[in-house]
Amino acid sequence: MPAERPPGGLEGVVVGESAITDVRGGEGMLYYRGYSVPHLAGSVGWEGVVHLLRSGELPTPGETRALREALSARRRSLGDLAPMVRAIPPGATPMEALRSGFSLLGHGWDGFPPTDEMFELLLAFPPVFLPNLWRHRHRQSVLTEPEGLGQAAAYLWRLTGQAPDPRKLAALEAYLVLVADHGMNASTFVARSVLSTWSDPASAMSAAVGSLKGPLHGGAPSLVADFLDRVGTPDRAEEEVEATLGRGERLMGFGHRVYRGEDPRARRLRELARTVASSERMELAEAVERAGLRALARRNPKRPWGLNVEFYAALVLEAAGIPRPLFPPTFALARTAGWVAHLKEQAQHNRLVRPDVRYVGPGPRPLPTPA
Ligand code: ACO
Repeated sequence: MPAERPPGGLEGVVVGESAITDVRGGEGMLYYRGYSVPHLAGSVGWEGVVHLLRSGELPTPGETRALREALSARRRSLGDLAPMVRAIPPGATPMEALRSGFSLLGHGWDGFPPTDEMFELLLAFPPVFLPNLWRHRHRQSVLTEPEGLGQAAAYLWRLTGQAPDPRKLAALEAYLVLVADHGMNASTFVARSVLSTWSDPASAMSAAVGSLKGPLHGGAPSLVADFLDRVGTPDRAEEEVEATLGRGERLMGFGHRVYRGEDPRARRLRELARTVASSERMELAEAVERAGLRALARRNPKRPWGLNVEFYAALVLEAAGIPRPLFPPTFALARTAGWVAHLKEQAQHNRLVRPDVRYVGPGPRPLPTPA
């Protein structure tokens, strides 16, 4: 009897143990170190979540302040990154640039396990590199934020040169918290595998960004925004959804490998979007949501369909003033929290990741005799 075929996407395969994030797909719940993630968003800032994911406990106010100050100092220590920004080819997308940026940052990093200094630099890097790259490409001068800001505020400041609107900042901060980690997703698995070879954490982050770039993982929110633009008005939602599915394309922001039904982060993001998006944009998004869920259910009634995190993320990011090409690397900026926590955990219990594959090619055979 032939052996059962292993799942191509490793779904259901347990590849290790982790005490960081508990993804309960069946129940539609998500916890960081035991705390409900939708509840954390809005009550704890991104730095608090970095601390929680890394250490296992929520920070005291003093610990939050210390981490904010440490990251603020690291951002300053990075300088304007001008040689690095200029080295990125003009045609590279910001996500490709970030992948290369992490790689350039880690030149000369060696030794295992990684140091806390390396981890802090990796966390501090995206909110400096991305605005500097963006402004360089738009022939604008590089900006430095006032001291003591958190990552979300620093990122907006460095992009715009203005103190961010508190409502928009709060929505962005909550978004960063919601997507800070998500168990053994593709990019986290990649990052842990790279570090398991005793490689450096910048190589691991660079590989993780490469993985997150794909639209099946993290590259969808800008595509969601493009799709909403294409639909234009709520009355056209049905028609565009049908046309998209009719061409065999996927609806971005719908479906999830782990959640059956709605992603708990999507629910929270919908609430957040209501606080910052314009009523026209919200009505359009809700019309597309309804039309998409109806159409997917008609095609595959057995699967409980729901939105994933990326659908309303598009509205929150656009309302927060993040330029659309920066949506995917803003996701990466948030996810550095989870990657760093996972790399730390990997380093603590390291074993080289080296799975097996069942060989199904031809058996041993002789080389053809030369003619
Ligand atoms: N639109 C249309 N069809 C879909 C969608 C979708 N959004 N999602 C799944 N399907 C279909 C597939 O085409 C497939 O159909 P088939 O069996 O006829 O070939 C079937 O449903 C099963 O698809 P899988 O890829 O096996 O489902 P999986 O659970 O592995 O996929 C995924 C999850 C990749 C997120 C998928 O739902 C998808 O492609 N969604 C759109 C892209 C997207 O939103 N990406 C962001 C993901 S969230 C994140 O990573 C943070």
